[in-house]
Formats: sequence, structure tokens, C-alpha cells
Amino acid sequence: MTREAANRPVMLTDTKARGLADLPPVQSDSLLALIALAAADPRADKIDVGVGVFRDGAGNTPILKVMKQAEQRLLDTQVTKAYLGGAGDKKYAELLRPTVLGEHAADARIAGVQTPGGCGALRLGFQLIARANPKARVLLGTPTWPNHAPIIDGVALEIVEYPYYDRSSGAISFAKMLEALEAAAPGDVVLLHGCCHNPTGADLSDDQWEQMTQVVARRGLLPFVDIAYQGFGRGLDEDGRGLRGLLTACDEVIAAHSCDKNFSVYRDRVGSLWLKTASEESTRTAMAHVLQDAREMWSMPPDHGAACIHIILDDSELRARWLVELAAMRERINAVRRRIASFDPRLDYIGRQFGMFSLLPLSRDQVLKLREDHSIYMADSGRFNVVGMADGDIDRFTAAVVDAMDG
Ligand SMILES: Cc1ncc(COP(=O)(O)O)c(C=O)c1O
Repeated sequence: MTREAANRPVMLTDTKARGLADLPPVQSDSLLALIALAAADPRADKIDVGVGVFRDGAGNTPILKVMKQAEQRLLDTQVTKAYLGGAGDKKYAELLRPTVLGEHAADARIAGVQTPGGCGALRLGFQLIARANPKARVLLGTPTWPNHAPIIDGVALEIVEYPYYDRSSGAISFAKMLEALEAAAPGDVVLLHGCCHNPTGADLSDDQWEQMTQVVARRGLLPFVDIAYQGFGRGLDEDGRGLRGLLTACDEVIAAHSCDKNFSVYRDRVGSLWLKTASEESTRTAMAHVLQDAREMWSMPPDHGAACIHIILDDSELRARWLVELAAMRERINAVRRRIASFDPRLDYIGRQFGMFSLLPLSRDQVLKLREDHSIYMADSGRFNVVGMADGDIDRFTAAVVDAMDG
């Protein structure tokens, strides 16, 4: 199933002079619109589970304690803000390497570079693919994070959709996924969520990763792993296992990694792009293209968040404190999942899924009714953030959802 590009830039083919006022309207990002809608609701008891950030039991998104310590240390010790260069903080990427690559960290054919968030890494990775092989098609499991298709459209690669998830059973449509991969041509790209699938929460099991990896390797496909929530699912290391299996089986792998969620530095924009090719030399060349593209777009990534993560990862005590705070975030996610699942057998599957997001079995009308009657805000698709609500709101939220399902 191929799909039309949604927001591709309009190319003007006639010579008539045009101004900025002639631009066509842009379809607004529905998740950003939802945040604005929730913010404007004056009801004191509103629940915003449309939002894409971790919230603690009190309903806040605090700065991690270890991040405050690192920021203080940065403030005390930083002596210059002179340019760092297009690759940003090279030591940040070096220190992050074992976390992302695990047993592959010493492989010189893999290079990583700092990017402005996971989004910056996705854009650079797809641009590199478009440069190397503009005819490559991108296999995209649906549903997926709504920003994937626009980023791929932005570099004019063709998208081929396949169904990833079956809403009625709350399970991955694994046979259909393998069928789509078997039908792809060598050189086609398959975009995979490394862990904590957004929006479904449905992650491949170890066995499914293994089977899928074998098909990707045998068919000569290029796996592109988007790993934005490492440590929010089963554990920091466990969440990287799918990517590492692909690195074992395939000569070429691309990964877009984000530290924005697992270090809770969303607005600071901290990510990285990872490339593996068959040789050290071709990886160097590919990375040179990446840096050239980055230079054209943002010249160099923002420093502050990466500089703080550099400080944390370079200090064993701070790193240990980060792991404790990360575990606390993960445990809250999984505890809220279990609690919601215990309410009604129809919500059972939520307890078996991972990360911040899952889809509720609600129609668009039911979602809108929850908004009107209970000031509960979630995406029209029924995607909700399991830790978008405070502990004190979980029972009221789940009761309203069950009510809506029955109504
Ligand atoms: C699946 C997925 N990939 C990538 C990103 C981008 O993350 P960042 O905020 O670091 O750009 C997100 C953010 O919501 C995401 O959900």
C-alpha cells in the first residue's frame, strides 16, 4: 500500500511572480493542537493524556535531580561558549556509545554524531538515504508516530505502509509485517521502533525481533531504528537489544536515538544519529555527508543538554544516580499500566505493553465525548499517555474510559 506525500513543498511550475501570501495552508500537527486545546480548558479537574512527556505521581515533569547537579557543575566550570563544530560535543557521542550499541560499541564501522533531538537524527538519516539511493522505498508500519511520514516526505522518499498493529486484539500483526518485508526490494528501508512503540506500546518480543531481523538481513533491506525511549520499557540495556541484533546480522544499519525522554530534557533537544556500513572507510564517507547536510540546516546542534549528559555519563556516581531516576520513571510507567489493566479485562493488553503510549478501544466520537463530559484530553485516535495523569486521577480516568466504552 503506497501513500501520497502529505506536505511536500509545493514547486511552482509557472513564471508568475508569487508572494508569501500565496502559500497554501498547512495541515496543523494534531498533537500540538490538542495540547493547546487542553491548556485552554478552564476546568480544574482536566486530565491531559495527549501530552508526550513523562509526568510523575503528582502530575509534574520535573528536571531530574542528577540533571540539576550536572547543570550546576556546567555553570561552575564552563569557561567558553565558542563554537564546537558541526559534530557538536564529540565526547557526548563517545560516552553514549556503550548505552546505544552495547556489545557493538567497539565496532569501528559504527559512527555516531550529536543531533538536535531524535527528530534531527531522523531527518539526517533519511536525507542520507535519499542521497545514496533516491529510489529506496520506506516501509512504515501503521499506526506510527505522526511525524515519521512528514520527515520522510521531506526528503522525497516513497513510503509503503503495512499494518503493524491489530487494534481489536491489541497484538502486533506480525505475519503481515513479515509479509511486507518479504515483498520489499533489496535496498528498501524498514523503519522500526527500537522500543516503547509510539503510539501502540506494542513491542516485538525477543523472538519476533530475531525472526524479523533474519528476514531484513536475507532480503538485503536497510533497517532504520528509531529509539526515542530507551530505558522506559523493559530496562536500559533490554530496550537496546533489538537494535543490537540488527547490528549483528546486517552490514548497514541506521539508528536515530533520543536522550530527550530518558534524561527528561525535552526542550534542550539532545539526540544522536548512528551509522553502520560494511567498512570503516564507507562509514567515514557517509558521516561526512551527514555533517555536510547538518551544516546546511542548523550548522551545529545545541550544546547545553548534551554538555550536561556528557558530565553525567563521564562520572560514575552521577551515572548511577541517573540510572536510579530512570528506573523510577520506568517503574511508574509500568505500575500505572498494571493499575489501568486491572480495571477491566478489555484493558488487559495495556499491562502487557511498554513505554508511555497505548491506544484505547475508543471511537473518535467517544474520545470527543470524554473531552466534553470529563475534560479528558487524548488524541482522536485514542492514543493516551499512561503517565500523563497524576496518581490521584488514575481511577477517575479509567472509570470514565470504561464508561465511554460501554456507552
Ligand atoms: C517515536 C518517536 N521518535 C522520535 C521522537 C523525537 O524525539 P525528540 O523530541 O528527541 O526529537 C519522538 C518524540 O515524541 C517519538 O515519539
